[in-house]
Amino acid sequence: MVTTRIAITAFSACVGWLVFSTLVPRKTKRPPGPRRLPVIGNVLEFPQNFQWFTFSKWAKAYGDLVYLEVFGQPIILLNSPKAAKDLLEQRSAICSDRPPLEMAYLSGFDKVFVLSPCNDNWRLQKKIVTQDLAPRLLPRYHAFQEGEARLLAKSIIEDVGTLEHVAKLRIGTIIIRITYGRYISADDDPVLAMAKASMDVFTRAAEPGVWLVDSLPILKYLPAWLPGTDFLATAKSWREIIHKAAWDPYLGSKRAYEAGSVLLPNTCATALEEADGKLPRNLEEQVAWAAWTMTAGGMHTTVISTLNFFLEMMLNPEIQAKAQKEIDSVVGRDRLPTISDGASLPYVRSIVTEVFRLNPAIPLGIPHALNTDDIYEGMHLPKGSILIPNVWHMLHDPDVFTNPMKFDPDRYQNLDSKMNKVTDLVFGFGRRVCPGKAFGEGNVFAIAATILATCYIVPKVDDNGNDVIPDIVHSSGSLSFPSSFDCSIKPRSAQAYGLLSHAVVDVPDSSLVN
Ligand code: HEM
Repeated sequence: MVTTRIAITAFSACVGWLVFSTLVPRKTKRPPGPRRLPVIGNVLEFPQNFQWFTFSKWAKAYGDLVYLEVFGQPIILLNSPKAAKDLLEQRSAICSDRPPLEMAYLSGFDKVFVLSPCNDNWRLQKKIVTQDLAPRLLPRYHAFQEGEARLLAKSIIEDVGTLEHVAKLRIGTIIIRITYGRYISADDDPVLAMAKASMDVFTRAAEPGVWLVDSLPILKYLPAWLPGTDFLATAKSWREIIHKAAWDPYLGSKRAYEAGSVLLPNTCATALEEADGKLPRNLEEQVAWAAWTMTAGGMHTTVISTLNFFLEMMLNPEIQAKAQKEIDSVVGRDRLPTISDGASLPYVRSIVTEVFRLNPAIPLGIPHALNTDDIYEGMHLPKGSILIPNVWHMLHDPDVFTNPMKFDPDRYQNLDSKMNKVTDLVFGFGRRVCPGKAFGEGNVFAIAATILATCYIVPKVDDNGNDVIPDIVHSSGSLSFPSSFDCSIKPRSAQAYGLLSHAVVDVPDSSLVN
């Protein structure tokens, strides 16, 4: 009862303050934006779905910075690469926190560094991942990534499951192998299942604008028996899933490391080796959560990019043929392309870049938060503002990308300087930049080059022999998946199929795995 009274008093004080602060005119100029109502600000017009389309309209109406408020919470959209880089990179010291996501914290994600402000936990966990995925160390994983790309190609030619199913399995295998040193040999592997289940929870718990407790954190103190507090029970059940998904794979990896059966190198083993196998509990906790974040950060993003690659290849046979010609002339037909061939395959890299641009996996990046008041180009940016890089808008700016809705790898003219305009945006900014950028690009390239070298991706045909072109929608939400689609995958030649069958024997023997 006392808790409820405190909550109600605090809630009223909060509303009073919001009314006051909204009605009293401010001297400093905020960035432009749609008109705000007292107290609720822009709640009524704040888009619930496909936010990037509405944000993009606002970008055209108001410019590089758009100011919004939701129940007094300032939100600033950054609509151009210049604005995003000026703030998130040049002023990285003040623009690198994350906005608090109370529902995600309640659900057990309070130690996950992708959601942490730039505190000691974040620093330590980011260091663990960044060190392990440093570009100079990545060649040690190339053979494995290429082996999995070949297994992916072979599996879809042999039609062992849907494209989405096979992509999730092979990509999950890559990420779990490098994180925990475990090879996933079956679909129902418990580590893979836990990773998938916990990511589904993450996507729901961290979805912006869905949970009232994110806007009114005081609600988290309400007693769980009060009507309307179902979110507390939901969070409690999710917490158990998340805790298990972080600790079980870490402890399994540690046991295998101690028994000498773990696949090396891997991120957990590197941390254990540095501590001579004896990590204190508080550091073990950091490694377990860093490893979970790494798995979560790498899996869905790579699956989305891979599915989008298949989709665009099916829809654009002439682009597929041009890439195959490049591979045949550079690599030949007697071997399969490797990640190191990337430098000599600029058209294949252009395809990967165009996949990232046309349908970015994370259309609005991951929001940053401003930790102090700031002035940018004469405009006041209030402390605590949520900074949303409107990456989708930047990647579809017709002044930079002519005919932006068209899949057109030729727009990069095979030049890295032009491709970087995309890759500098899709992996985030400043201190929070994706630590898996080079590794993730390597995965998507290995898959694209292997598939193009060995397969034709064509539409299914109906009973009358006509191509069935699917009507694809990309989902709303922080991660944007293409809707399910079907395509036919045929080997380019018996020789190509033979190379695949031969190459996959490089994948570790099941006797080696924990
Ligand atoms: C196509 C693949 C990928 C894309 C498009 C992508 C994109 C992103 C983006 C946009 C961010 C947010 C950056 C920011 O806040 O400014 C991010 C963060 C992150 N990514 Fe990736 N990513 C990919 C692959 C990976 C891989 C393979 C890993 C690890 C194996 C990974 C691990 C992470 C982690 C741990 C963070 C959190 C960084 C932080 O908060 O400081 N990502 N990624």
